[in-house]
Amino acid sequence: MSPFLITRTLPEETTDAALRADVRRGLTRTPKTLPPKWFYDAHGSDLFEKITELPEYYPARAERELLIASSADIAAVTGARTLIELGSGSSEKTRHLLDALADLDTYVPVDVSESALTRAGHALVEQRPGLNVHALIADFTTGLALPGTPGPRLLAFLGSTIGNLLPRERATLLSSIRSLLSPGDALLLGTDLVKDEPSLIAAYDDAAGVTAAFNKNVLSVLNRELGADFDLDAFEHVVRWDAENEWIEMRLRSRTDQTVKIPALGLAVDFAAGEELRTEVSAKFRQQVVRRELALWGLELTHWWSAGQLCGLALAQPSAAPWPTQGR
Ligand code: SAH
Ligand code: AVI
Repeated sequence: MSPFLITRTLPEETTDAALRADVRRGLTRTPKTLPPKWFYDAHGSDLFEKITELPEYYPARAERELLIASSADIAAVTGARTLIELGSGSSEKTRHLLDALADLDTYVPVDVSESALTRAGHALVEQRPGLNVHALIADFTTGLALPGTPGPRLLAFLGSTIGNLLPRERATLLSSIRSLLSPGDALLLGTDLVKDEPSLIAAYDDAAGVTAAFNKNVLSVLNRELGADFDLDAFEHVVRWDAENEWIEMRLRSRTDQTVKIPALGLAVDFAAGEELRTEVSAKFRQQVVRRELALWGLELTHWWSAGQLCGLALAQPSAAPWPTQGR
């Protein structure tokens, strides 16, 4: 295998059809919603990288510190020869894990963002001669087909991106992750933890307005890909803490009564003044909830590292108990 390979697992037409279906479904229902995966074109991926450097956005720093502290243990417990990473983005924090995994043969970053994968992949093969990097442009919510690589395999899902999935999507993903793991393989799951509301709100409503620009970027994606005529200034960035679901919601609130045309879908979408479009949920977790949810899907939490109430890293292995006959 050449040291850097990038494979698109879904044809571009399929991605385009998925965008159209998501936009039609999300903007013709009440309340209006859009799935967060459409934030991440090249500009959205750059904006996310800027978010990770903001003083208010503690999750990126906290998880990096946790990875620095725990990577040697993770390497000793897993002895991984393949590291698969879902939603790898810039692979920045992953470098600590890559450095610690002494027997690593192949790194498989998986992301919807081609620009992020290409940049990270080229940098990695240059910095780590001998490491095979097989990047996959793929949507992890629609099934995963992984390349045949040597085990044991460690599947990492960092940054609390699991929190951006709705409960049913989360269940589907954990089930598909479980079906990819063989005895001896492991899952490393990064989760942001429930904490005081002001810290949470500040992390998603930063003073410099980078998160607001990231939120509105989804409208630019619809303008470019579907010929829509969203006026970004006609929407306001809104952040809410939903204490019942224990998740942050990002929304875009229409400043006026307006109609947005989406020619590629033959659609005209009315927004009332004050109407809100939900663009993201970002669930926050507790250790017991993570343990229970993993167990439901045949994954036993064997190690847990946490930085106080900031964030947690769970290492889980396929349960010895029969699966999927366990109660759900
Ligand atoms: N893991 C990195 C990046 C987190 S940002 C970190 O912790 O800093 C979330 C990443 O997940 C982005 O790179 C985005 O493109 C990717 N992503 C979001 N939804 C996705 C999906 N459904 N399938 C694949 N990648 C997705
Ligand atoms: C990628 N994901 C975990 C981020 C989060 O915190 O939910 C995305 C993000 N949204 C706003 N800021 C960052």
